[in-house]
Amino acid sequence: MLEKIIEIVNLQNKWRREECLNMIASENVMSPLAEKYYISDFESRYNEHDVVSHYQGTKYANEIETTCINIFGNRFDTQYVDVRPISGAVANLCIYRAFMKPGDVFISPGLTAGGHVSSTRYGIAGGLGLKDIPMYFDYKKMRCDVDKTVELIERVKPKVVMFGRSMFLFPEPIKEIKEQIDSKIKVIYDAAHVFGLIYGGEFQRPLEEGADVLTASTHKTFPGPQGGIIIANKELSMDLWKKIQRAIFPGTISNHHIHRLPALAITALEMNKFGKEYAKQTINNAKRLGEALYNLGFKVLAADWGFTESHQIIVDIKEFGGGAVVAEELEKNNIIVNKMALPWDTDYDATHNPSGIRIGTQELTRWGMKENEMEYIAKLIYKILRKKQNVKNDVIEMKKEFMEIKYAFSSSKY
Ligand SMILES: Cc1ncc(COP(=O)(O)O)c(C=O)c1O
Repeated sequence: MLEKIIEIVNLQNKWRREECLNMIASENVMSPLAEKYYISDFESRYNEHDVVSHYQGTKYANEIETTCINIFGNRFDTQYVDVRPISGAVANLCIYRAFMKPGDVFISPGLTAGGHVSSTRYGIAGGLGLKDIPMYFDYKKMRCDVDKTVELIERVKPKVVMFGRSMFLFPEPIKEIKEQIDSKIKVIYDAAHVFGLIYGGEFQRPLEEGADVLTASTHKTFPGPQGGIIIANKELSMDLWKKIQRAIFPGTISNHHIHRLPALAITALEMNKFGKEYAKQTINNAKRLGEALYNLGFKVLAADWGFTESHQIIVDIKEFGGGAVVAEELEKNNIIVNKMALPWDTDYDATHNPSGIRIGTQELTRWGMKENEMEYIAKLIYKILRKKQNVKNDVIEMKKEFMEIKYAFSSSKY
C-alpha cells in the first residue's frame, strides 16, 4: 500500500509536470522557492485569532501573517487585507456572512454567464439562504450589459452586487455601474481567476474603480499556494472591516492552514518583481492562441473583440461532440483543459456536455512559452480534433523544452 501511494504521487508529478500542456484556467504552478518553503513546521500548527491569538506558540505564525498582510497591503494601497480564507470560495462565504443575512437578495453574474457556483443558489450563497439574481450579460460582447443591469439593480434593490466570473474574458464595468446605483449597495469583486493579472497591473483595478471588497484565490493566475484572500478598499469603514474579520473568525474559519503563508509571501515578492511581465505575456499568449485557433476555423468566442483581455479563451466546440467529449479527447493527447457551459446552453447540456471548452495560458506562460508556442499548440489541437490524429508524443517532446519556471527567484540561494 505504501509503495502504491508513493507511486501515485510520482506518476502525477511526471505526468502533469513533465508531459502535459496544463491549460486549465484556474490552475498554476508555484515557483521552486515558494514550493521549497511550502512545507515547514507551520503545517502542524494552529493560530486561531481575532485581535489576539487564542493559542500559545504563535509568535512566528503571527509574524508570517503580518508579513503577507503588509506585502499585499502595499501593493493594493490599503490597510485592509486578510489572508486567512483557505480558498476563494471560502473568501466569498466570509463576505456573504459579513454583508448579508438569510433571505437577502444579491446580484451576481449567473452560472451560464460564467459566474462561479459559490455565488449561486446551488452553492454557498444558496446554503446561506441568499437569493442570487443574475445580472444581464451581452453574449456577443461577452460582457455585463450595463444599462439592463442598472435597471435590474434599481428594481430589486439588492444588498450586494458581485462581479467576477470563472469564464472571464473582459473587465467588469464596475465604475459605470457603481456611479449609477445607491451608494449603500456593497460592490464585491470576485477576482479568483484574474488576481495575478490584477496584481501584475495588466487587468482592471477593481478597488480604484469602486469595488468595496475584492476576494480571490491565490493559485490561479496568481501563482501561489492554494488559498484565498480578502482585500478591502481603504475607504471602507473600520466597522465594516471588523464585521468581515468576525465573519472570518470565529464566523467561518478555525485552522487557516498557516503553512501556505510563507509560500504566499514569496510568490507575492516574485510578483512584485516579475508580475507585470508575466501578466502581459499571459494575456498576449491567450490572444495569440485565440487568433491561431480562429484562423484554423475554430469558433473562438469574442473574435470581434480580440478574443480576450485575460488569460482565457473560450471555444465553442459543439461540432466536435461537445465540451465533455473534446476535453476527454484532448486529455488523451496530454492537453488538459476543461469543458465550459456557454450562455446559450440548456441547463441539461450545461451540466452534462456543454458546448464549450475554456483554455488558460497562465501556467504555460510560467513554463516560458510565448506566442510561437501558442501557434504550435493551436495546430496540435487542429490535428486532434479535425484530423483525428494522436499528438501525445509531440506534446511530450514539446514540454521537454520547457522545464524551468520563469518569473521566479532562484531557489538555490535559499
Ligand atoms: C469566480 C470564482 N470564484 C470563486 C472560485 C472558487 O475558488 P477556490 O477554488 O479557490 O475556492 C472560483 C473557482 O474556480 C471561481 O472561478
